[in-house]
Amino acid sequence: MERGKFITLEGGEGAGKSTQIPYLKSFLEARGYQVVITREPGGSPGAELIRKLLLEGTPTRWEPLTEYLLLSAARRDHIEKVIKPALEQGKWVVCDRFFDSSLAYQGAGGGIKEEILQQIYDAIAPYFEPDITFIFDLPIEIGLQRAKTRSFGLEDRFEQMPFDFHQRVQDKFRQISAKNPHRCYLVQAHHTVEDISKELQSHMIKLLK
Ligand SMILES: Nc1ncnc2c1ncn2[C@@H]1O[C@H](COP(=O)(O)OP(=O)(O)OP(=O)(O)O)[C@@H](O)[C@H]1O
Ligand SMILES: [Mg+2]
Repeated sequence: MERGKFITLEGGEGAGKSTQIPYLKSFLEARGYQVVITREPGGSPGAELIRKLLLEGTPTRWEPLTEYLLLSAARRDHIEKVIKPALEQGKWVVCDRFFDSSLAYQGAGGGIKEEILQQIYDAIAPYFEPDITFIFDLPIEIGLQRAKTRSFGLEDRFEQMPFDFHQRVQDKFRQISAKNPHRCYLVQAHHTVEDISKELQSHMIKLLK
């Protein structure tokens, strides 16, 4: 059985990541692949419990390193119990946010040294990285506006962060994309849902046989 591919969607709030997932899923299923949709933080029962701890409460509830350790515990559980087993069964896994979000939010946003983020990641998931990553890039004002008007209308902890936090996050995502051209594509997230969907498909073709 050939291993499945691991696809991640990254970028700021309201950039349109979650919106694209059903389209990506249909595209892959139409080509005969079994697809597992998942997300971070969360994605496994244990990690979903940790997600609740992370997303509820005030912006200062967790200091950045504590937050990263909680995220890493969740990530480890998610990888071991959901992502790797699915890939080994030949399924394709589409994950809404992954480690690049830690580099952007806990690193560039929260001020944790990248070396520390990377060392802990390497301990929980050695030699494990996505096959392809779409980084959604959107002007911050538009992203926050979109996030506010989402159907469920909940503003989570990250959306209450100051503007310069979001600026650092966006700059980091752009850097990650530039530094990892073997797996990353920067997506112009102000384009229409349909155009973005076509763009993702055109990049996915390269992974298909
Ligand atoms: N290309 C697009 N053009 C205009 N509006 C869009 C586009 N993509 C998504 N939206 C809308 O923007 C809002 C946010 O989209 P979505 O929830 O997909 O973002 P997200 O990247 O998953 O955000 P978060 O990181 O906060 O989960 C939704 O109301 C969605 O309908
Ligand atoms: Mg989302």
